[in-house]
Amino acid sequence: MTLEEFQNEIMEGIPSELPTKTEYDLNLNHAPKRKEILSNDEKKLALKNALRYFPVKLHAVLAPEFAEEMKQFGRIYMLRYKPKHKIFARNIEEYPGKSLQAKAIMLMIQNNLDHAVAQHPDELITYGGNGAVFQNWAQYRLCMKYLSEMTDEQTITIYSGHPMGLYPSHKNAPRVIVTNGMVIPNYSQPDDWEKFNALGVSQYGQMTAGSYMYIGPQGIVHGTTITLLNGGRKISIEGEGLAGKLFVTAGLGGMSGAQPKAANIAGCISVTAEVNPKATFTRHSQGWVDEVITDLDELCARVQKAKEIKEIVSIAYQGNIVDVWEKFDEENIYIDLGSDQTSLHNPWAGGYYPAGISFENANDMMANKPELFKEKIQETLRRHATAVNNHTAKGTYFFDYGNAFLLEASRAGADIMAEDGINFRYPSYVQDIMGPMCFDYGFGPFRWVCASAKTEDLEATDKIACEVLEEIMKVSPKEIQQQMADNIRWIKGAQENKLVVGSQARILYADAEGRVKIAAAFNKAIKEGVIGPIVLGRDHHDVSGTDSPYRETSNIYDGSRFTADMAIQNVIGDSFRGATWVSIHNGGGVGWGEVINGGFGMLLDGSDDADRRLRSMLFWDVNNGISRRSWARNNEAVFAIKRAMEMEPLLKVTLPNYADDDLINSIY
Ligand SMILES: NC(=O)c1ccc[n+]([C@@H]2O[C@H](COP(=O)([O-])OP(=O)(O)OC[C@H]3O[C@@H](n4cnc5c(N)ncnc54)[C@H](O)[C@@H]3O)[C@@H](O)[C@H]2O)c1
Repeated sequence: MTLEEFQNEIMEGIPSELPTKTEYDLNLNHAPKRKEILSNDEKKLALKNALRYFPVKLHAVLAPEFAEEMKQFGRIYMLRYKPKHKIFARNIEEYPGKSLQAKAIMLMIQNNLDHAVAQHPDELITYGGNGAVFQNWAQYRLCMKYLSEMTDEQTITIYSGHPMGLYPSHKNAPRVIVTNGMVIPNYSQPDDWEKFNALGVSQYGQMTAGSYMYIGPQGIVHGTTITLLNGGRKISIEGEGLAGKLFVTAGLGGMSGAQPKAANIAGCISVTAEVNPKATFTRHSQGWVDEVITDLDELCARVQKAKEIKEIVSIAYQGNIVDVWEKFDEENIYIDLGSDQTSLHNPWAGGYYPAGISFENANDMMANKPELFKEKIQETLRRHATAVNNHTAKGTYFFDYGNAFLLEASRAGADIMAEDGINFRYPSYVQDIMGPMCFDYGFGPFRWVCASAKTEDLEATDKIACEVLEEIMKVSPKEIQQQMADNIRWIKGAQENKLVVGSQARILYADAEGRVKIAAAFNKAIKEGVIGPIVLGRDHHDVSGTDSPYRETSNIYDGSRFTADMAIQNVIGDSFRGATWVSIHNGGGVGWGEVINGGFGMLLDGSDDADRRLRSMLFWDVNNGISRRSWARNNEAVFAIKRAMEMEPLLKVTLPNYADDDLINSIY
């Protein structure tokens, strides 16, 4: 397809005539069939909802076709409307349109749906099993058309993938406002998602899927590397590193697939179990995991050998994680670090697979006997937790990796609660590691994408970012030296580690000062013609963007971790300080109803306007969360916000006073 044909297809939007149907591609990784949840009347409603995108003359053909999709997949994806053009992040100049900002958004949307990036491309799912960019292909077409038409005086609103329209606004407003899965709180149970999604009125945006900010597994490789390095410091007895130590976990999917690579970078032995052969094959063929083993005895022998010679090696076990924990217990194979990244935020719809049942049979049971499937999942979770407990009794350090493992295991009645009956036996990685060591200081997953799609631009930005961090580190306080050092080491090795899948993107952890200075240096380099435009963003899993009581805000102990004011304040604040697009989601990471999370995208084009916007918005985007963490009496955040106030006289944050425990205890 020529560039012109691509542009024409984008500008055409939803064609007025019926497009030809393309063959269903069995080689793609498809979403599992979703649960049958709609009544007959609700199915009629879902069909009417789907047909409102199309001229009435086509309804007679489309109605039975969409009904068949509903029957076959449990959703209406409108596969006939999948575009003919190849979807990937192109050079920004190739997108049709009047607004460079809108073109940047098109690029980022296409990256999230790239076959090399997306988990279930046909179903418009980027990662996490249900993290959707759009609900159906009509929404994709309509949104891309609007973006190709809009000017910098307009804003598009996206309601869970549905582009409601283009509205007059102004040049300092975001070009796109995304909301995903926002429902009335009492209607936020997992089955509500199944129903609203099947009706075509809501979607699960995950974090960076529905906000067009996914950069492939690189983001999570970095986060996992930082977590493993810091976890390694926690279990280090005499300052020794991770060499020869064993990390056991599960999941080789969208995000979890990064674990073996991160373990290699952190320098340990890792075993990652994965039930889906397609996922294992993908990660192995991409070089993200070194070896695949399908037999448990062979696995034990291989791990023993690696331990003896302190080999850095990542091993995929093709099978259920529970079998690994149990076998290693029987064989007395010592696990130093343990975790889990199956998709337990989505336990009933393919996120977690039961032990003792083949992958195919489990999928069949999920669709046809959901109640039995649920029982099997809960039984497996209880076994899983018991096996983990056996290992931790021998000394293993286990942490919840933000996938709702402890939450779902507790709901399944597993022996996972602490003695107080309120907390879990094990910490989440945020409580122990990321919260106090990173988020409270403002360090979080800052990222950028080179909109020219050129590798030279990525190399140039890596160099610029590294120089900025090295400069800051020279004068930064001792409290944040370790973080600075880890990230300088990361950025220096980033190219060698070949982390790019999809767009030319990079991630590193930086605090407010680092983010602003790196972004300003990029903008200057764009102005000077050294590099092309850059899209800035971040994971939602950050200092300020996400309220999630068992994950991002699990180290908030003043009782406010079940509130979501911070995430809402953040997205509103970002939107009027210069974000190019913003998004706010219910669900993401830990599950529908369990988290509110938001993010932004910002185009840097070398202009003075961009310089003003980045300074204003990035400063807020980090310090909002530090303020809240400081108000919760987190000492690291109090330290960080006081520093921020010294740097910016216009910032005045309410600081907490610390009550004396003896005084409180004398009253209650
Ligand atoms: N803490 C973090 O920083 C962080 C980051 C990313 C993702 N997560 C969480 O981790 C989870 C995984 O994310 P993802 O994007 O990789 O999801 P995913 O669905 O793409 O991958 C999960 C994988 O686990 C496999 N699996 C399920 N049950 C299994 C079992 N019993 N044994 C072995 N393998 C099993 C699945 O086949 C799947 O491939 C999600 O809940 C996500 O929210 C946490």
